[in-house]
Amino acid sequence: MSIQNWAWSDRLSLKHEMMDETHQEFVALCSALSLSEEHSPFLDRLDALIEHSIAHFEQENTWMDDFAFPPAGCHKGEHDAVLQVMQEVRRRYAGGERDLGQSLAEELPLWFEHHVDTMDNMLAQFLISNQLALAEHEKASPQLA
Ligand SMILES: [Fe+2]
Ligand SMILES: [Fe+2]
Repeated sequence: MSIQNWAWSDRLSLKHEMMDETHQEFVALCSALSLSEEHSPFLDRLDALIEHSIAHFEQENTWMDDFAFPPAGCHKGEHDAVLQVMQEVRRRYAGGERDLGQSLAEELPLWFEHHVDTMDNMLAQFLISNQLALAEHEKASPQLA
């Protein structure tokens, strides 16, 4: 996989509409890290990705809490760890370690694809089956809907 043409594809879809929309945004902001400085300052693009990631992870963390998702601790731990890496790269890049920008741009797509295949995939399946069960329950007990 070349980071130059890393983009959203159906291969990343988890069939959960809100999650897929958020993930499309992550992919767009993440691949923008590979643009040149002439396009826009790297730190502006990294800040946009960090801002997105805080909201993206918070949304998933809230779903995990709301639906008592069993492996929530492990999943939240991956969110916290990657966010810390992004913030550390931001700090060091601002301090002059420019090579780290390119490394982050190359590593994040690999991290994300693995995270989607494992953690987010499990969460999406869990949410879909819980939402189906809830819809079935509301159909059977319309007065509760
Ligand atoms: Fe996600
Ligand atoms: Fe996640």
